[in-house]
Amino acid sequence: AGEEIDETTSRAQAEMSEIMVSLPRCSVYFTRQYRGFWIREFVLEGMAAAQASFEPRPTDVFLASCPKSGTTWLKALAFATLNRATHSPSDSDHPLRHHNPHDCVRFLETRPVPETMALPSPRLLATHLPCSLLPSRITECGRVVYVCREPKDAMVSFWIYSNKIAAVLRRQLGLEAPLPTFGEAFELFCKGQSSSGPNWCHALEYWEESRRRPGKVLFLKYEEMLQDPIGNVKNLAAFMGCPFSCAEEEAGVVREIVQLCSFEKLKNSEVNKNGNSAMMGVKNDVYFRKGAVGDWKNYMTPEMAARLDKIVEEALQGSGLTF
Ligand code: A3P
Repeated sequence: AGEEIDETTSRAQAEMSEIMVSLPRCSVYFTRQYRGFWIREFVLEGMAAAQASFEPRPTDVFLASCPKSGTTWLKALAFATLNRATHSPSDSDHPLRHHNPHDCVRFLETRPVPETMALPSPRLLATHLPCSLLPSRITECGRVVYVCREPKDAMVSFWIYSNKIAAVLRRQLGLEAPLPTFGEAFELFCKGQSSSGPNWCHALEYWEESRRRPGKVLFLKYEEMLQDPIGNVKNLAAFMGCPFSCAEEEAGVVREIVQLCSFEKLKNSEVNKNGNSAMMGVKNDVYFRKGAVGDWKNYMTPEMAARLDKIVEEALQGSGLTF
């Protein structure tokens, strides 16, 4: 069966490599426009592999997001919640004290499919793929938790992050990555050209899926999580099928998980201050910057903000989704 998967996967990846060269390309972020979304080239191949041979299980939980929307935080919270019987959040040896959340929960599209397939149940996986590009079996079978973030803040976070990782991408992929100015990155973002963009269309697809199948897709907002982390973690646990018992709540387990995964705790841990992520080979500190709401005000003019707001508002009109 392993060989069969390998063969199917290789064929799908080869087909995607062939298709890819004819797709519109953004040379700033090494993305291609595929079925309406701008996806990194190396991700497209991984996506094709997953579409061809990944088999979901009913116990799978997928953490989905557009980049820079709180993925790292959601990975930490979901990992700590789902594995609390094995790793108490107060444990000094807890994996999140010694590993970056991205090394505890890996992305489906950037990991070899056989490796993901071999994980024991319940599997906790992540994806930046838009809902429409996920293997359809996933939304039919497993559960998806989506986190979205106000697009102006996501844009600022993305610009700073992509400039930081440009050097690594250059080295790893042998590509030249020109560093865009803020103004250039803003123009690209407004045209939907960010990683997995348009950012708001990404959120809209999962939003609609969450309304179609509320038991299968939980839709979270970064800003609401910051406002009420305890309430959101309780919801997350119930959705993942491992609700907190009254005894756990009384013992403060939810609070301990929130503290373990807090921005300050994660940012200041040794592994995240000085370690390197196994996932991309980048320094772990790139995933922790300010963790605040409204930082866009320090980067965008009111005109820029109004322009992006209008684009987003028009795209989401009538959907019920607002930021
Ligand atoms: P800023 O760049 O605005 O600070 P992602 O994890 O999807 O890449 O998103 C990164 C954003 O989430 C960054 O935002 C980062 O600082 C913030 N972040 C990371 N860990 C966090 C945490 N534990 N709590 C809140 N925000 C966090």
